[in-house]
Amino acid sequence: MKKFKRYLVTSALPYANGPVHIGHLAGVYIPSDIYVRYLRLKGEDVLWVCGSDEHGVPITIKARQEGVTPQDVVDKYHNIIKNAFEELGISFDIYSRTSSEMHRKTASEFFRRLYDAGKFIEQTTMQYYDPEAGQFLADRYITGTCPHCRNERAYGDQCEKCGTTLNATDLIDPRSAITGAVPELRETKHWFLPLDRYEPFLRRWILEGHKEWKPNVYGQCKSWLDLGLQPRAVSRDLDWGIPVPVEGAEGKVLYVWFDAPIGYISATKELTPEWEKYWKDDETKLVHFIGKDNIVFHCIVFPSMLQAHGEYILPDNVPANEFLNLENDKISTSRNWAVWLHEYLQDFPGKQDVLRYVLCANAPETKDNDFTWKDFQARNNNELVAILGNFVNRALVLTSKYFNGEVPAAGEPAEYDRNCLDEVAAIKTSLENNIDHYRFREALKDAMNIARMGNKYLADTEPWKIFKEDPLRVATILNTALQITANLAIAIKPFMPFTADKLSGLLQCGPLGWERLGSDSILPVGHRLGKPELLFEKIEDDVIEAQLAKLEAARAANLAKEAKVEPRKESVSFEDFSRMDIRVSKVVAAEKVAKTKKLLKLTVDTGIDVRTIVSGIAEFFTPEELVGKQVLVLANLQPRELKGIMSEGMILMAEDASGKLVAVAPESEVKPGSCVR
Ligand code: MF3
Ligand code: ZN
Repeated sequence: MKKFKRYLVTSALPYANGPVHIGHLAGVYIPSDIYVRYLRLKGEDVLWVCGSDEHGVPITIKARQEGVTPQDVVDKYHNIIKNAFEELGISFDIYSRTSSEMHRKTASEFFRRLYDAGKFIEQTTMQYYDPEAGQFLADRYITGTCPHCRNERAYGDQCEKCGTTLNATDLIDPRSAITGAVPELRETKHWFLPLDRYEPFLRRWILEGHKEWKPNVYGQCKSWLDLGLQPRAVSRDLDWGIPVPVEGAEGKVLYVWFDAPIGYISATKELTPEWEKYWKDDETKLVHFIGKDNIVFHCIVFPSMLQAHGEYILPDNVPANEFLNLENDKISTSRNWAVWLHEYLQDFPGKQDVLRYVLCANAPETKDNDFTWKDFQARNNNELVAILGNFVNRALVLTSKYFNGEVPAAGEPAEYDRNCLDEVAAIKTSLENNIDHYRFREALKDAMNIARMGNKYLADTEPWKIFKEDPLRVATILNTALQITANLAIAIKPFMPFTADKLSGLLQCGPLGWERLGSDSILPVGHRLGKPELLFEKIEDDVIEAQLAKLEAARAANLAKEAKVEPRKESVSFEDFSRMDIRVSKVVAAEKVAKTKKLLKLTVDTGIDVRTIVSGIAEFFTPEELVGKQVLVLANLQPRELKGIMSEGMILMAEDASGKLVAVAPESEVKPGSCVR
């Protein structure tokens, strides 16, 4: 591996149109936080930048929905996101935002430089325009019928029902999502980055030069390149964003995916006057942490922009993760199917590391993964409490009991003792190798293996059984166990910083650098330890059930939203209602009405009489299945003639939005003639 002088780490700028959820964390922010904390512990020169992505159509849509300005939306979510990250210990060197003045300036200059160097092509195309709103419509603003699955609520860029990527002009019956007006096609001019010109460069750089990238990333790049690249518009007709900095571009802004990645540069500039060292010197290792939906932008588009600019380095790696699902369902902001970070922090105060641990242990590094609350509970109770917490607690409590809380002097070590301490050094090598290759789950397992080993060591050596006869042996065992504990305080630090600090506090050892990991003598003999305290506590079933209930509520709300139910009717008086004579009745005979498709002639016993009712239900019921059934009949409906038959009443049925009918009947048989009221 090439040795770099310094690191610049970026994490995808989250959209400020909603809070951050566990999918974002597992995919991007937790892995990058582990990576950066590890580099810092090793004393590397590293900067880590992030910020809110505050432009783009979704933010304007959200603003419209909530009746506020786009600036209000981004202010609100920027603060929620920033505070929640901070509380979780996500340790960016800067968390900036793309609505900042520094960013506007940086992105404008970037565009202008490419423009002046003739790197763009100008093209006039036909685009949908809403004549009522007086503006061009971004693809998201157009709804219509999907030509593939006939979903009537497809968007101009995608049908969410069948997942097809669409062009707005593919939609059948297009409508403006703003006003409902029928949009018309109008001419509009835009600037395009001709990605096709960068194909040879990208092939050389990625396909030949970066075969070590994760297979999911490399594979996506290869398939994009094999399909052939097209020029991409880098401007939009929108009133929210960074104005296109050229003459005659009124009403046009930079496309959000053009300005957002430049946000990494703006944030670095804001952070340090030495920013150029990190962006323009090829002894800097640039790493982009992202989710898989961002791969094309970070591996194809942004590198082409950087290449076109000419002064910037390219990423050395783009360790994109796959997606995290929640309880077997895709996480979705709009469907509120998520565990929101700010809510987790409220519901689980002081348990930041539990979430960090579970999301890293379960990170979707090579394939999509599922988060379940049961797994969250199990990992806390069976791993953090039973392995890590238990080992540390035993080592500390035993030392307090037998040696008054002071590190005892070790006697001649047994082979087992030596092996355990050697194993820590071996684990260090594996852990480093895993983090260096972005395998954070494996790295976390390595760290936990130190605790596993410690637990086994104490269980095997049973110091509590031999103190009376051999206190010197117990001193050796506990010295060893405490050295393992101190090693743990270092090894878990990138993953669980709060717990590592707490543990350092219990050990009274101050901050320990990474170079101490693997040492057999971190804690000197006679060193006083703090009072033992538990690192983790069990999470009980009721806590998990409360979280599951929250999700159930979200699911129910979504179903209600999706089901097209009839609006509520006007109120009626009780007297009005009492005038209905609704009776439980039994169908005694049924036959089809000749020459009709829909009608059945039923003979029913209403308890008052036996009468004929003609009912339009033949598409849903055969005569045979109705005979013998109890149904509800409106018995005092005025009789009327249908196909020459006198119908005296109406069978009550439930009808859903698709027109499907289901009979309504008493839950158990009652006497015909019983009234419904
Ligand atoms: N906001 C985008 C998303 O959430 C990510 C932007 S990353 C950047 O998918 F590079 F453009 F900043
Ligand atoms: Zn569709």
